[in-house]
Amino acid sequence: MSTTNRLSFFRMRPSLFLGTSVAVLLAAASCSRRQPEPDASSSLLPPVAPNELRAPEAFGAISDRAERSKALFLEASRVMLHPRCSNCHPDGDSPYQGVGADWKPHDPPVVRGPKDQGVVGMQCTGCHQDRNLEQSRVPGAPNWHLAPRSMAWTGRTPRAVCEQLKDTSRNGGKTLAQIVEHNAHDELVGWGWKPGWGREPAPGSQERFGAIVAAWVETGAECPSEEARP
Ligand code: HEC
Ligand code: HEC
Repeated sequence: MSTTNRLSFFRMRPSLFLGTSVAVLLAAASCSRRQPEPDASSSLLPPVAPNELRAPEAFGAISDRAERSKALFLEASRVMLHPRCSNCHPDGDSPYQGVGADWKPHDPPVVRGPKDQGVVGMQCTGCHQDRNLEQSRVPGAPNWHLAPRSMAWTGRTPRAVCEQLKDTSRNGGKTLAQIVEHNAHDELVGWGWKPGWGREPAPGSQERFGAIVAAWVETGAECPSEEARP
């Protein structure tokens, strides 16, 4: 539509235009009035150190089943959104790297290629072996490659990660049982707790993380609200 057309559209429909602007203003006003609500259920949980995960039993303090499920997912998201996981679940075509809780582009620059395994001459497994190489600092685990684009986590909210994790069109066709199994036993996931060479591991342990994800599924696999953060 050309600019002239757009202008004449509004000239013809002043009431529609006015109505829309009022609605937009009202929406903006109600948004700015909304305070970030502290998550009521999280106050029932024991405090936790940044490198630990709460035990699934701790969530028994939240009596409402759906609220308990949401809190369990927020706990699991502390692992998924940790750089040891999300560096390899990027929002673009290249992995990130970094030893702490920071993100930097992968150096040297590499791209996912047609099968998420790099391109000819720059395959991921050309450098990344099936185990960490301590001398050269290259991290490794069997079949090292990028998570497909539909499984991107960097920059997403816990709710967005939750929804795509449950969506079989984006999670690699996995059932919830397979999601639990993948998290509890997959070797690329497991690498997150033994990342080698001075890298900060993901919080807790894979065993406890698997138990948290299983408890989330058992309580109905509810997703937290868009604003909720762990
Ligand atoms: C070296 C890269 C790499 C790392 C590190 C990695 N992943 Fe993945 N992840 C993948 C790949 C590749 C897939 C797709 C595999 C498949 O579909 O079978 C995947 C898929 C997944 C899935 C399947 C469903 C979905 O929608 O994402 C989950 C869950 C998952 N990873 C969890 C984790 C967690 C938790 C960590 C950190 C503790 C982690 N991953 C670290 C590469 C990685
Ligand atoms: C030319 C060698 C080379 C190639 C090819 C390569 N990498 Fe890396 N990668 C490295 C090195 C070296 C590091 C460690 C950098 C550091 O921590 O100083 C690294 C780090 C990473 C990390 C960061 C892990 C973390 O959280 O600490 C990820 C993720 C990663 N690579 C994924 C990939 C993927 C996926 C591919 C293929 C698309 C790939 N790499 C291809 C050399 C390579």
